[in-house]
Amino acid sequence: MQTYNLAVIPGDGIGVDVTAAAMTVVGAAAKKHGFTITSQQFDWSCAHYLATGAMMPEDGIETLRTFDAILLGAVGWPDTVPDSISLHGLLLPIRKAFNQYANIRPHRLLPGVEGPLKAEAFDILCIRENTEGEYSGAGGRVHQGMGNEVAVETAIFTRTGVERILRFAFEQARARRGHVTSVTKSNAQKHSMVFWDEITRHVAQDYPDVTLSMMHVDAMAARMVMAPESLDVVVASNLFGDILTDLGAAIQGGLGFAASANICPDRSGPSMFEPVHGSAPDIAGRGIANPIAAIWSAAMMLDHLGEPAAAKAILTATETATGQGIGTRPGQQSTDDITTAILTALETQA
Ligand code: NAD
Ligand code: IPM
Ligand code: MN
Repeated sequence: MQTYNLAVIPGDGIGVDVTAAAMTVVGAAAKKHGFTITSQQFDWSCAHYLATGAMMPEDGIETLRTFDAILLGAVGWPDTVPDSISLHGLLLPIRKAFNQYANIRPHRLLPGVEGPLKAEAFDILCIRENTEGEYSGAGGRVHQGMGNEVAVETAIFTRTGVERILRFAFEQARARRGHVTSVTKSNAQKHSMVFWDEITRHVAQDYPDVTLSMMHVDAMAARMVMAPESLDVVVASNLFGDILTDLGAAIQGGLGFAASANICPDRSGPSMFEPVHGSAPDIAGRGIANPIAAIWSAAMMLDHLGEPAAAKAILTATETATGQGIGTRPGQQSTDDITTAILTALETQA
């Protein structure tokens, strides 16, 4: 029997609850679809930082390298540990270390979920560049604390980095409705974004079967609200993709529905699966976090590992539950009740 060994990092806040929910569903899907899941849990988190002085051990990346995939909840507890420490000590280094340059984030309404828009029949796949750009970490501050202080945050775009994420997006579009919208801000950012646009035109020549649109990120923000059904694959830089995917989450009913896969396309290291949302300190510890984003992310993990039938079964079970009104409105059911409804739907599937 095929066995997959997972590294599980629940992290902080609701990350703990939604990861436990996702693991239960993954376990049930494995049993039903004839494969084995083994896992090791890591308590790397802000609590771990406060206890040890580090978000993860020095050999954390090497430890993760041996796993088939990583399932992560959420990282960050800004009341006790600055985000600049927690995210740069755990989440962001994992994405970079394993070359998880393609972040896939699907946005569509599950049955029974009422989004804030009139449009209901949208199905957007956001492809976010995940390892460079505005998140390069390059920069610094001079004259700290003085009136003439200057802070510089340099976005770094490489030809390799931009070209590969665009190719990834075009490949995704080929397997979908055949349309890519590339998002930049080349009217204002005359170096990096003009560069991105040039590479987009170049890459598009290799995909004559895919239609291409190019838009500025401000216009895209409006279009995702006004006409989301007109979009197929949307590809954007790290920061623009980050912002647009919280917008995507909003139009699909909230952050509790938005799944995410950090893919290492050449499989030189493990890929990482986590919801779009964070640790949600405002609702943490109350047992009301929506686990659907984490469960959907786990389904994407099984698909990536080569278990598409189990992945589809989890999504179908989730749709059955939401179709019955379970998990569709914030706080109406508990995390456990939503998870149980999905498990029941999974177990009673033909
Ligand atoms: P957040 O995503 O944690 O929360 C934003 C809002 O969405 C909150 O009102 C929250 O209650 C709600 N929400 C989020 N997930 C939900 C769910 N599953 N069910 C129901 N409601 C949900 O964003 P934030 O408050 O800006 O960030 C909190 C912390 O998480 C910060 O430290 C931030 O840096 C971190 N963060 C981490 C990740 C990650 O690990 N991938 C992602 C985003 C934010
Ligand atoms: C996300 C998060 C992270 C990001 C933060 C927590 C660094 O917002 O995964 O969307 O910006 O990538
Ligand atoms: Mn984000």
